[in-house]
Amino acid sequence: MYILAIETSCDETAAAIVKDGVYEISSVIASSKELHEATGGIVPEIAARKQVEFIIPVLDQTLKKFQTYLKEIGEDVSWELLPSKIDKIAVTVGPGLIGSLLIGVETAKTLAAVWNKPLIPVNHLVGHIYANFLKSSSKDSSVDFPALVLVVSGGHTDLVLLRDHGDMEYLGGTVDDAAGEAFDKTARLLGLAKYLGGVQLSNLASTCLDNAAQGTLPRPMLDKNNFDFSFSGLKTSVKKLIESNAFPKDSIACEFETAVVDVLTKKTIKAALKHRVKTIMLGGGVSANKSLRTRMSQEAKEHGFAFSVPPFSLCTDNAVYIASAAYFIGKEKIISNITADPSLSVDSAL
Ligand code: KG4
Ligand code: ZN
Repeated sequence: MYILAIETSCDETAAAIVKDGVYEISSVIASSKELHEATGGIVPEIAARKQVEFIIPVLDQTLKKFQTYLKEIGEDVSWELLPSKIDKIAVTVGPGLIGSLLIGVETAKTLAAVWNKPLIPVNHLVGHIYANFLKSSSKDSSVDFPALVLVVSGGHTDLVLLRDHGDMEYLGGTVDDAAGEAFDKTARLLGLAKYLGGVQLSNLASTCLDNAAQGTLPRPMLDKNNFDFSFSGLKTSVKKLIESNAFPKDSIACEFETAVVDVLTKKTIKAALKHRVKTIMLGGGVSANKSLRTRMSQEAKEHGFAFSVPPFSLCTDNAVYIASAAYFIGKEKIISNITADPSLSVDSAL
């Protein structure tokens, strides 16, 4: 089964075709990131206007790659007949920016109506989880349930118990800033990037051979008997640390990253032990963080859990995992009943 998916929840315009929920056939992503770097933060109106520009070329390229793939497997399909090879369409309906979501949702509704295809609404956060189910050279797609998932992105930090496909329970999440947001704000305070500086901060941290600032930042909410997180206080502490001029930048970056990874790892292991899961999974942009991947993998192994993390290319926003989520748990809906919902939570039913 071939699913065409569209993802436009933030500043990316992405489309993909995935076979049987696990084989990435075609994926195209256009981003307006550099425009938001200039303004030091995302301007929703600008993101949406760019997505209007990008959506047709992105779909066009996605379909062309699909046509090339079909040719390679011996099916010479003309451009006019290409839609007949697509079984279903999936689209991100939330959470995200309303203007951005609407572009993907309305495009998908139009294609579904014109091509007469079933349409599946997908929760973006659930999509991040399903990035773990794609087959890649380094990874097969099977996961032993029950699994505990840590979804860490620019807008969310959620711990989710996944008993089986589609059977999810929200265990806890951030009460203020998301982990990615804390990375971005700290990168900005350190002068590393004006917008989305998680990678730059992590790169600087990895150059630190001796963390002179070790232990100077708090590990928020670690002693609390719940599975919630809080990162806004950490950001304030980093600000004070920078203003004190007492430590080099690389040590501050390293101490910040270590503090975030400490909290994320310890709370995840605690929840995994409590709920006796078999697998720990990561999802979302921050799961591209090498320090988090390494620490979580080590701790999971030590405690006897299997560990799964998406390949780097599927950590940040793309449409591949939207197609995969649609395949495994998607529910087709009448086209006119599908609407964008900017405030969906990870366990919202669709
Ligand atoms: O999932 P995503 O692409 O978009 C949202 O749904 O929010 O996540 C983007 C977030 C940003 O905050 C970005 O700085 C962060 O993921 N990020 C990282 C890394 N790569 C991306 N944070 C830390 N280390 C990284 N290597
Ligand atoms: Zn995301």
